[in-house]
Amino acid sequence: MSAADTVLRTEGLTKSFGGVHAVDGATTEFYEGKINGLIGPNGSGKTTFFNCVTGMIRPDSGTVTMHGKDVTRWAPHKIARAGLGRSFQLCRVFPRMTVLENMLVAVQPRTLGEYLGNTRSTETVEKARAMLARVGIDHLEAAEARDISYGQQKLLELGSTLMTDPPFVMLDEPAGGVNPSLIERIALLVRELNDEGTTFLIVEHNMDLIMSLCDHIVVFDRGRPIATGTPDVVKSDPKVLEAYLGV
Ligand SMILES: Nc1ncnc2c1ncn2[C@@H]1O[C@H](COP(=O)(O)OP(=O)(O)O)[C@@H](O)[C@H]1O
Ligand SMILES: [Mg+2]
Repeated sequence: MSAADTVLRTEGLTKSFGGVHAVDGATTEFYEGKINGLIGPNGSGKTTFFNCVTGMIRPDSGTVTMHGKDVTRWAPHKIARAGLGRSFQLCRVFPRMTVLENMLVAVQPRTLGEYLGNTRSTETVEKARAMLARVGIDHLEAAEARDISYGQQKLLELGSTLMTDPPFVMLDEPAGGVNPSLIERIALLVRELNDEGTTFLIVEHNMDLIMSLCDHIVVFDRGRPIATGTPDVVKSDPKVLEAYLGV
């Protein structure tokens, strides 16, 4: 694939914590219009990579290029404004707000009336309801977020990420701690949105999910890629089996 198709590129990305080289000179490429996957054993640096790319932590060295722009060390909100939607590995919802309110706070006020009145336009509320229906939790709109299940909170988090129509969405372990039927729902939604043009980078420990969902996969071990390619290519790579199974 050519550079024009690259949505995200890192070069020599490095981040250490004390003596731990969490991300260790990672050079990677992910592609526009694809469902990209980043996979690797626990502790292989996936979340640290994710946090460096989204601006949540500053890399020690290396560069991050998104949509052809060098965004290394940009603040997270600036990167988000440049067209990245993200979700967090740990569920971040506002526990005492209702499900619907959680969807609405994802959207910046668009008019002075909205800003001053802390209300949202009918259009925004309709969009929030439609998105809740899409992620399959519209029946819970009036429930407080703390009262819905962990899997449902992840769906809520995904829905609120999508409220801003990001062209590029990064998800860190969307399936972590989620029951199989909700994982299937997340997978279906990712496929649908990708068909509509959204690019994804999904960071996951769940190898089966990534293998069935992704077009392009990067496998991490000890903070750097050890294999790259289609599911079939990485699945049969002895280095990947070794990293996963320790054989
Ligand atoms: N804030 C931190 N402080 C110290 N060590 C950390 C921190 N975050 C991650 N690490 C270490 O960096 C390594 C990579 O962790 P992480 O990026 O969370 O991996 P993964 O998401 O693949 O499980 C691990 O050894 C982890 O213990
Ligand atoms: Mg992680």
